[in-house]
Amino acid sequence: MKSLRLQLRFLLPLALLLVAAAYITVPLMDRLTLRWFLRDLDIRATFVADTLRGNLSILPGELTLETMQAEFNRANRDERLLGIALCDSQNAMLLRTPSFPEGVECSLVGNPAPTQSRVLPLRQGEIHVAVAPFNIGAFSDDRLVVLHDLSYVHRRTADSRDYLIMFFVGLGLAIALVTVLVAHISWRGWVAGTRALLRGESLLKPFQPPPEMQGVANELRAMLREMDEERRIRLHAEAWSAERLRNLLNTELRGEQVIVVSNREPYIHTHKDDKVVVSRPASGLVTAIEPVMRACSGTWIAHGSGDADRETVDRHDHVQVPPDDPSYTLRRIWLSEDEEQGYYYGFANEGMWPLCHLAHTRPVFRLSDWEFYRKVNQRFADAVVAEARTEDPVVLIQDYHFALLPAMLREKLPNATIITFWHIPWPNPESFGVCPWHQEILRGMLGSSILGFHTRFHCRNFLESVDRFMEARIRLEESTITFDGELTQVKNYPISIHWPDAEEAASWPAIDTCRSALRKRLGVPEDHLVAVGVDRFDYTKGIIERFNAVDRLISKYPELRGRFTFAQFAAPTRSALDEYQLFVHQAVALAERINKRHGRDGWQPIQLIAENQNAEEVNSHYRGADACVVTSLHDGMNLVAKEFVAARDDLRGALVLSEFTGAARELEAALIVNPYDVEVTADAIYKALTMSREEQAARMRSLRAIVSEDNIYRWAANMLLDAARMRRTERISARIVSSGEMR
Ligand code: F6P
Repeated sequence: MKSLRLQLRFLLPLALLLVAAAYITVPLMDRLTLRWFLRDLDIRATFVADTLRGNLSILPGELTLETMQAEFNRANRDERLLGIALCDSQNAMLLRTPSFPEGVECSLVGNPAPTQSRVLPLRQGEIHVAVAPFNIGAFSDDRLVVLHDLSYVHRRTADSRDYLIMFFVGLGLAIALVTVLVAHISWRGWVAGTRALLRGESLLKPFQPPPEMQGVANELRAMLREMDEERRIRLHAEAWSAERLRNLLNTELRGEQVIVVSNREPYIHTHKDDKVVVSRPASGLVTAIEPVMRACSGTWIAHGSGDADRETVDRHDHVQVPPDDPSYTLRRIWLSEDEEQGYYYGFANEGMWPLCHLAHTRPVFRLSDWEFYRKVNQRFADAVVAEARTEDPVVLIQDYHFALLPAMLREKLPNATIITFWHIPWPNPESFGVCPWHQEILRGMLGSSILGFHTRFHCRNFLESVDRFMEARIRLEESTITFDGELTQVKNYPISIHWPDAEEAASWPAIDTCRSALRKRLGVPEDHLVAVGVDRFDYTKGIIERFNAVDRLISKYPELRGRFTFAQFAAPTRSALDEYQLFVHQAVALAERINKRHGRDGWQPIQLIAENQNAEEVNSHYRGADACVVTSLHDGMNLVAKEFVAARDDLRGALVLSEFTGAARELEAALIVNPYDVEVTADAIYKALTMSREEQAARMRSLRAIVSEDNIYRWAANMLLDAARMRRTERISARIVSSGEMR
């Protein structure tokens, strides 16, 4: 509307100017063309008179009226010539051609010298009259009268006038069109600039709106700054809890539908001793997302992998969970054996997993796996569409199993806010480029509105991969990628754990009880030193390096013989894959060798317990141990480190942490090690076991302050607040665009 008014402000004066110009120019042109035509007729009349005189003067013999009449008639053949006559000095008409109009008398035409012209108005219209001396023989005092029809002059003048008016109208239209086009282009530029501003793209490099829009742009900037500031204060003001996250979902996202997609389901129903039992999988992802889902009561879509899963769902494949306090819906997707083999074991875990983890295991890429991966991603996309109650739900896609899902979803639900969180590292472009379908993977992920990694380093690797392999616009300062007209914000959101409140912590068994339980389980005395490792039995976790460090520890510090045990709890995982079977075999063999080398009198330095532990058992192991050892060769975050810190409300125990985990970037008070460096790792474990109480407490206090504050609710809140901001922005820009289209 505003733009229309601006255009009118320019177009109205322009139209007035053009009318005035036409008003002055048209009569001027009329007069000018008439004068040109009259001059032309004067020349013609002179030419006719001269030719007639010339022809008559060379005739042999005496000039008679008869011979002259014949010559006059011949000269009068020109169609524009109305008539020729000869008048004597007494104004008597001696001769006239037949077409010479009645009513034009010699007395009317005057007595000129030399050739003279005038315009005579007659009943049949105006005529041009030219009079010239005859000057031949006996008729030398007579006058020649040459009449021309003026009607064709008037016709041509009228034609020229019409052309002139048409020219002015055309000019006016052309200028108006150019004006509207220029205004439209600058409007679009302004809209694009405003959208960029709203998205935060231009906060560092502000776009320059036209002067008349400056006010609006400044207001928008101020509003965004206020919102950001408010958000920053709100994020950091108080601790994040499930309750606060629930409030945020209701206020910022107005209770909009949240859909989570992951491969692993949060609750698995299986048959055990003729009964159906429910269990939680050993998955960091599930540990992290479950509290968020409890807070927002959304829908979680996952692969139904338990052998009793089908028996526990309703006809929509839904089951309400958690079983003891249902607060959200789990929608299960059924996969055939081939699909699970190709998509999960094949492409996800033999391809993507080793591709993204720098653990020196070669990725394997098979075309058939890739095709299943694509097919299963499409099946999950269809399920999201089926579960969506609105056209713009907030969809949280989890992990490397679903690299293609964001773009598939974007196609079906263009208004959805798609947040993809990549729970594992992202490699550098050289490593990533070995995947034969690297472009398809990037294209799929760029369907996300927000793409989250644990660390800035992984974000940078991703931006560099896109830069290397795709035709996309990347803004490094704002960490955004525009591909296919869609914007993806790439940002780090370090994941965390649920931080227990005082009531929950009070319900845990006492530290002494946990210490005794752990030592009893290991079959060692009460005063025995124990370090624990708690992992999935995965080659990325550095379990072999850890055992080598224990081996070196015992050799280097013999006083620990018989007094120390390293307990490795390793949850079986992906056991169908050769690589994992081989790894388990190697780890078991290594532990046996080390135990054989150092063991005596029933004591063994390493106890490898390859079993699933439930959450309570794991918490009890953490509380009962003197140290926790995390030596991943490469890990997106590693939540074991954070869980250990959360469990130690007694401020005791020490954490040995690999520098190659995302967690090491936050938990600087841990004993940070390079797990490939056996000497350093062995020394760090020794330091952890012998650290003074004061130092343990100081380090643990610092670690607990970080984890309690940056808990899983803050992780989710950070992403959801960004999503809410993005949705607000989209709505404002949609309004700007639609108001632009209505103009
Ligand atoms: O680390 C990536 C991850 O998806 C974790 O989030 C999760 O703990 C683990 O892998 C689960 O693996 P899986 O589902 O294959 O057992």
